[in-house]
Amino acid sequence: MTQVNDYDNWAAIRQKELKAGEKLPHRFVEKPAMRKLLPDLAGKKVLLLGCGTGEESQLLAEYGANDMVGIDLSQESVRLAKESYPNITFTVGDMHELEFDDESFDFVYSSLTIHYSEQPEKVYQEIYRVLKPGGSLQFSVGHPMRWASERIEIEGVVTRVLGYSENAEKPRLYGTYSSFKQYDETFPSGEVLRFWIAPPSTHFKLLRQSGFNVDNFVETRAIEECKEVDAYYFERNHEFPQFSVFVTRKPA
Ligand SMILES: C[S@@+](CC[C@H](N)C(=O)[O-])C[C@H]1O[C@@H](n2cnc3c(N)ncnc32)[C@H](O)[C@@H]1O
Repeated sequence: MTQVNDYDNWAAIRQKELKAGEKLPHRFVEKPAMRKLLPDLAGKKVLLLGCGTGEESQLLAEYGANDMVGIDLSQESVRLAKESYPNITFTVGDMHELEFDDESFDFVYSSLTIHYSEQPEKVYQEIYRVLKPGGSLQFSVGHPMRWASERIEIEGVVTRVLGYSENAEKPRLYGTYSSFKQYDETFPSGEVLRFWIAPPSTHFKLLRQSGFNVDNFVETRAIEECKEVDAYYFERNHEFPQFSVFVTRKPA
């Protein structure tokens, strides 16, 4: 059986796809949303939490970041990140137990990673600890509209549904929205992932309980450029959010 999560096995392929702009969620949905919210990072000490193979360091460099540390649980991803971006420090680490001193960073960036935690409150508490007062955390996680919907067949067509029947004699829920729930998914590529999806309100609650102020919240929409490449991917991910993005701050 393939191991959950198999990031080590897929690191090289993911990196190739990311560099070639072949990952549509990254290129047209999540990264554009994250990009819009990035602050000026010149002179800031930045942590890339769940940095994967390190490509996001190039995005942050565009915003002036030149003092970055990346951590990821996947040894192979970290090895490839070091090879590709030798001027940046990358280390293997777990977001639940960060090996950094209190108040070490001005900015923590975390893209599509915190939803791999069954205990996001632990991750938020750790990030809060390593942020300097006044420092920010910007991150993205899966949105339940997409990731907690259910795949069913309607008239022979595989369809994603979030909702319920209105017939009390044939009660049926499709997916969940309000629960914090574990999902195991094998993607068309063969990659196997286990993740936990919660409604945005749960993240708001856990962030506030951890001490953060939430300054901004965005539900992603695919950008117009996507139309040229895949019109139907654009349509569905423009109309329905695939990811939630939060900008939060540790009070000064
Ligand atoms: C979808 S990838 C995102 C990589 C990169 N941030 C990007 O956007 O391209 C999720 C990453 O989270 C990492 N990850 C999962 N659990 C983790 C943990 N407990 N601590 C640190 N990294 C973790 C995985 O190894 C993987 O590289």
